[in-house]
Amino acid sequence: MRLKHIKNSENIVSSSKVVIQNPHLYKGKWKSVFGNNNKIFLEIGMGKGNFIIEHAKRNKNINYIGFEKYPSVLLGALKIIESENISNLKIICADASNINDIFYREISKLYLNFSDPWPKARHAKRRLTSPLFLKRYDSIFKGFKIIEQKTDNDDLFLYSLECYKKSHYFKLKLSRNYFDDIRTEYENKFILTKFYFNF
Ligand SMILES: C[S@@+](CC[C@H](N)C(=O)[O-])C[C@H]1O[C@@H](n2cnc3c(N)ncnc32)[C@H](O)[C@@H]1O
Repeated sequence: MRLKHIKNSENIVSSSKVVIQNPHLYKGKWKSVFGNNNKIFLEIGMGKGNFIIEHAKRNKNINYIGFEKYPSVLLGALKIIESENISNLKIICADASNINDIFYREISKLYLNFSDPWPKARHAKRRLTSPLFLKRYDSIFKGFKIIEQKTDNDDLFLYSLECYKKSHYFKLKLSRNYFDDIRTEYENKFILTKFYFNF
């Protein structure tokens, strides 16, 4: 993804109350961050955050954590979360490669929405559904390992199915034409391109 660096974004992110600094300190203790025992749903690669913000607003009895590696991308989301005081949503600004240093048996669902496809074979390990990442996710889940993935990329879709199978994740629901009423920024762009411009 091509990214515009926004001046001062690192400082804004590191001083935001909704961004959890040093997240590894809370490994196994995330319920203390929220102050309740509610389930925790995680989105890796939240981008501008439309999806997770809307979910958090509609489901106050669930805690949400959004994970995003680039501070510049997060600024708009932070403004909304702070101004609307969405207390069941926290943000981590980091690369998810170290996810198993941050959570231990406390995530009830993982969302992967329109993840970067990393088409070159030499970058396959960076795909968020690669066997390497699936292995990392093993220890973060509490109970069943539940991943909800959305993608517009056929290659990533087929690759992910293969990886889920190899890593003993079972497919429960699969759709080629599934549109959520809570959409991500990429999903909106995809739908617009597919239905308004291609036909
Ligand atoms: C293609 S965008 C999709 C954003 C959003 N989910 C959507 O559907 O609009 C992928 C996002 O994932 C983030 N990302 C990719 N790899 C990541 C990683 N290893 N750790 C954290 N964030 C990551 C990127 O910075 C980017 O914002």
